[in-house]
Amino acid sequence: MKTRARVTVVGSANTDMVVRVPRAPLPGETVLGADFQRLAGGKGANQAVAAARAGAEVTFVGAAGADEFGQSARRSLAAEGIDVSAFAEIEDVASGVALIFVDHSGQNSIAVAPGANSLLTPEYVWQHRQLVETADIVVLQLEVPLAVVEEAARLAKDAGVPVLLDPAPAQELPDTLLQCVSVLTPNELEMQQLVRFDDAVSGTPELAARKLSERGCQSVIVTLGEEGAVWFRRSGDLRCSGDRVRAVDTTGAGDVFTGALAAELGRGRPEKEALAFATAAAGLSVQRPGAQASAPGRLEIDAVVGAADPAAW
Ligand code: RIB
Repeated sequence: MKTRARVTVVGSANTDMVVRVPRAPLPGETVLGADFQRLAGGKGANQAVAAARAGAEVTFVGAAGADEFGQSARRSLAAEGIDVSAFAEIEDVASGVALIFVDHSGQNSIAVAPGANSLLTPEYVWQHRQLVETADIVVLQLEVPLAVVEEAARLAKDAGVPVLLDPAPAQELPDTLLQCVSVLTPNELEMQQLVRFDDAVSGTPELAARKLSERGCQSVIVTLGEEGAVWFRRSGDLRCSGDRVRAVDTTGAGDVFTGALAAELGRGRPEKEALAFATAAAGLSVQRPGAQASAPGRLEIDAVVGAADPAAW
């Protein structure tokens, strides 16, 4: 097993505008909230930070505008030791922004204005293909154009590099993309949204995962919040129960799970242990506010995993 995985994340970076509210407003309603925070976010950037804090050597491929938000996003990643040489700065376009409500129970509602994230191109990924082809594992999500995700996945697959795809925000995925995916990491809602696009599938996560496997995806991990996660694999399923914790803010918990998982799988850690590590990382992140801000460090995660009962994995 390697000490540190080389993880390449191709994806989004946003600035999160966060308001804590008693509950998310209904259409036409104004809700008075509490404090406002501007934080570093974006699913791709969150995953990159989570992987770096979990100990990986991380490269981020993405795009932001030449504005203050973009510069701030770049600074946040660089401060984590992440290689941002392929984080493009695009003139005359706004950087990605997410408007986030976090309610009293820590649940979030998010609307994203993708800005420069939507201008990332397959050609740009191809120009930086060496970063994909030399990684131990590549991490993707769906906040950049699907053609970008497909190009990165294809390059990785052709180079024999495993692909971890977080299908968020959920959208219809072509079989050609699923055939490049080693591990798909939807949460329950995303899994439902994914299978709703496929008339042949209904019912349990097991059935949905099996159908996605038949379409070419190697394996599927469904994250279940505090219930943990289930990994549907051709070689047999793995389950990991979560810890009961008091959730302060669930924003980015899925990104933390994916980033931590990539850090461990990429260095060759056995899948059962990598799943326990990622589940523990996500459990820690929901106990703190923010997305990137909440990603735990390797020692903290190890302490939780070490204290857990392996029989519960
Ligand atoms: O997954 C959480 C992230 O989704 C936030 O950081 C926000 O930027 C959106 O991309």
